[in-house]
Amino acid sequence: MGVNDIDYGPLAALVGTWQGDKGVDVAPEPDGTEENPYFETIVFEAAGDVSNAETQTLAIVSYHQVVSRKSNGEVFHDQVGYWTWDPATRTVAQSVNIPRVVAVLAGGTFDGDTSGPEVVLEVKAAKGDPDWGIIESPFMRDNASTLAFEHRLEVRGDTMKYHESTSLDIYGRKFDHTDTSELKRTSA
Ligand code: HEM
Repeated sequence: MGVNDIDYGPLAALVGTWQGDKGVDVAPEPDGTEENPYFETIVFEAAGDVSNAETQTLAIVSYHQVVSRKSNGEVFHDQVGYWTWDPATRTVAQSVNIPRVVAVLAGGTFDGDTSGPEVVLEVKAAKGDPDWGIIESPFMRDNASTLAFEHRLEVRGDTMKYHESTSLDIYGRKFDHTDTSELKRTSA
């Protein structure tokens, strides 16, 4: 089957290039919090499907997100991964890979209508969770551990909004590292 003949379910709404300049990042500092306004580009590509153990078939959308600090224009977050859709169980999963050497495999159930005006994807992971977990390097485990991750992403036409919450154990305390953004689709 061609890449474009596949039923991507709710992930079809993601495909394209998205740009936004309304992002707000809240990140930890040793003695407090830093708030970083940002702009970003996220490219989502329909990437076909995969079958597992001759039983499960997943539709795949790959993505690359590049985020820059407004104050100096420099890239300060780069992320790649896949969104997958399992129509048999209505499960959506997101794999998150960041160069700090942290990987997240977050999952959730999509119970909306793929042909409705809005698609809302919600996925979660937690360290040690048997279903949807987090893996990190020994350094990050010991110094800046990611304990949990939650992501809510909404697409309405050519507008995307998301809120991500990454719970960290850093500088001897728990910190809710958050990222909120709004983007527009700039090409299909
Ligand atoms: C738009 C998305 C994101 C942006 C702009 C962003 C930005 C930042 C910034 C500015 C810091 C503070 C760095 C420092 O001062 O040392 C930070 C820390 C961190 N971020 Fe993110 N982040 C994003 C998403 C994520 C995600 C999705 C994860 C994990 C799945 C993550 C994991 C971490 C960790 C573990 C740290 C602690 C490391 C440190 O502060 O030295 N971030 N992030």
